[in-house]
Amino acid sequence: MPVPTLTWENDALRLIDQTSLPEAYQFIVCRDVKAVAEAIVNLRVRGAPAIGVAAAYGVVIAAQEAIAQNADFDAHVAKSIQKLAQTRPTAVNLFWALERQEEVVAEAAGRSPAEKRDLLLKEAQEIFEDDKRICRQIGRHGAELLSSRSTVLTHCNAGGLATADYGTALAVVYAAVEAGKQVAVYADETRPLLQGSRLTAWELNQSGVDVTVICDSMAAAVLRDKNIDSVVVGADRIAKNGDVANKIGTYGLALLAHAHQVPFYVAAPLSTIDMKRASGVQIPIEERATEEITRGMGRQTAPNGIQVYNPAFDVTPNHLVTAIITEKGVAKGNYAEAFARWFE
Ligand code: MRU
Repeated sequence: MPVPTLTWENDALRLIDQTSLPEAYQFIVCRDVKAVAEAIVNLRVRGAPAIGVAAAYGVVIAAQEAIAQNADFDAHVAKSIQKLAQTRPTAVNLFWALERQEEVVAEAAGRSPAEKRDLLLKEAQEIFEDDKRICRQIGRHGAELLSSRSTVLTHCNAGGLATADYGTALAVVYAAVEAGKQVAVYADETRPLLQGSRLTAWELNQSGVDVTVICDSMAAAVLRDKNIDSVVVGADRIAKNGDVANKIGTYGLALLAHAHQVPFYVAAPLSTIDMKRASGVQIPIEERATEEITRGMGRQTAPNGIQVYNPAFDVTPNHLVTAIITEKGVAKGNYAEAFARWFE
């Protein structure tokens, strides 16, 4: 079921504050670019497609600021785009959406600030509506890969909370359930920020889908003992050769799936494929604050001053990926070839 992850209301961006889930289901309203950037940096809105949509609306807010402050429109919008681009480096949807808005401004040269703002809003609404449609298409294509009784293991949250509709990896689950299949999901809790246990478990539970939370370290045993039919995850950026950057832990899960001969599927929109990066080594990986690990559970969980390494994402090499599910269909084997066809 879709959740109102992001909505445009009264010239402002309304977001579910995902940092409060599952304790509290509450919203924040972003009325300035600073608030949008803060929401992205602190994961109040997160997940690659949702970050892209939020950034697109962030540029509309920048336009409104320029008009209200009587500032140089193009300069203020360009500065705001730069600010939004510095929030998180890995999910390419952020840059993809910002580039679309940059083009809108460039093509609107000579028009009034009010007209430019309206065009930016139209583009943001289009990105939002397209994402909804794309989630459904990914769901339809992916559901065909699941049998009538399936148990799926997923990592992080690639559901309604990460998109404008009902997700990418979880779209596969929702669409299969809608098609009358019986699907049970194991959700990795996803350390350090627990998107699996806080968000995936929350939204699947809201939708009445059978979900069981496991610690990340249980995945091997679960793959061996619990008849997992497939692993389905989302992506933050996919290189031209099919290497996949996704939440830290995804690579380990792909290795485990391979060892247990369980298909490993990646579901993502075309906007997550970065044709400018030949392979995964070129994908920038975000490193986040050490406190996410040393004070992760609301209490001190590591000694004072200890060294911490906290990459938010990892790269799964293409040979561990059984198939990539997009709105255009399912690619298997030679990803470069399928992508080239889709992007033609
Ligand atoms: O750090 P996050 O919560 O933004 O990471 C999200 C993920 O890794 C998702 O799997 C990915 O963005 C796909 S969302 C459809």
